[in-house]
This record gives sequence, structure tokens and C-alpha cells, in this order.
Amino acid sequence: MRGVFITFEGGDGAGKTTQVRLLEEWLTERGQEVVRTFEPGATPLGAEVRKLLLHGGDEIGAIDPRAEALLYAADRAQHVAQVVKPALARGAAVVQDRYIDSSLAYQGAGRVLQVDDVRRISDWAAVGLWPELTVLLDIDAETAAERRRQRGGADDRLEAEAVEFHEAVREAFRGFADADPRRFLKLDASRSIEELQQAIRARVASLLDD
Ligand code: TYD
Repeated sequence: MRGVFITFEGGDGAGKTTQVRLLEEWLTERGQEVVRTFEPGATPLGAEVRKLLLHGGDEIGAIDPRAEALLYAADRAQHVAQVVKPALARGAAVVQDRYIDSSLAYQGAGRVLQVDDVRRISDWAAVGLWPELTVLLDIDAETAAERRRQRGGADDRLEAEAVEFHEAVREAFRGFADADPRRFLKLDASRSIEELQQAIRARVASLLDD
């Protein structure tokens, strides 16, 4: 078995976690070692960074956009070095919830920073590691917000942003996918869980059987 790096992207509430879990099950059945992981927060250092980013208290106050981008990049650097690269090196499939495209969409397109600047720092943090396949679960902001409400729990700092922010993030993701169909599989996240998973498995199978 060869190492393969697959990432999932999309708005909060797109159903990434479910699809990641189902893909892990299927790959494991095929005899593939799978490392299911996520950003931000999958390493001990990253977990601390995640708390600062998403649940930082009043004493932290507003996070400057550049500081925010660098914190996501710091989480990524640690995660790539400690988890992703070692897993790929021993031939595992890394199936990951969010990666560089989230930084480009949320920090780049959704906010005041230039996408190219965010790409540069993220690429540096990841030592140039990009996924072979990125599944984009495309969902409109209203539906995503509704799903989050049904899921319950309090919105984190980014989830609480206005619908316009989530629409800008969505448009950014769609633009990335349309510009690079070789890496991306863009799917309409309003389709059923089974249909989505079938499409994902078909694409992963063709990647692995190549
Ligand atoms: P995540 O844990 O995936 O939240 P959820 O399960 O609710 O989708 O991500 C937390 C938040 O971090 C999410 O709102 C997107 C944001 N994010 C960025 O802004 N930039 C990044 O580089 C990453 C990885 C996530």
C-alpha cells in the first residue's frame, strides 16, 4: 500500500466529519492503514493553539488577521511534521478534515488578507506538502447554519460570523475547486450521505488503482 493524502474541505456543517469517518472505514476494509486527523488542533501543541483561535477568552480580545493566519500555520507546521509526514512515509492513507484550503478560504478570501500571502505562509509551514485529492463538500451558508443549529452546541468564533462571511468562504472554495479539478472533487453536500460517500469512494479507488 502506498501513502496517500486526502483532505476534506467545506463550510462548517457540510458533513465533513461523517464522510471522513465513512471513508476511513472503507479504506481500512481494503487493508489500508488509515490515519484520520484534522486541523486545527490534532497535536498537543495544536490543541492549545486551537483553544486560542476558537475559544480564546476576553483576555485575548480580537485576533489580528495576520496573527490568526500565523496561528493556523503554526498548528499546521506541527501537525505535518508530527503526524502527516510520518504517516505518509510508512504508507498510510491520511484522511484529514481541513487543511491549507481552509486557510486560503477563511483567512484569505473571507477576511482582509491576500490569498497569495496566506498560500505562501501555509506552504512554508507545510514544507510544500499538498494533498493528492481534496473533497469539497459544497453547501450554501443558510443550510449549513441550519445544520449547525440542529447539531446543537454553541457556535465557535468563526461559526458565529455573519452569513456574508460564510458565503464568501463558500465562493472561495468553489473557485479553488473549479480552478484545479485534478486535485478537487467538488460535491453538492445537500445530497444523501450514501450518495456522497459513493462518489468519494469511486474517486479514491481510481486514485489508488492508478
Ligand atoms: P473545524 O474543527 O473543522 O470546525 P467544524 O468541525 O465546526 O467545521 O474548524 C474550526 C474552524 O477553524 C472552522 O470554522 C474553520 C476554521 N479554520 C480556519 O479558519 N483556517 C484554517 O486553516 C483551518 C484549518 C480552519
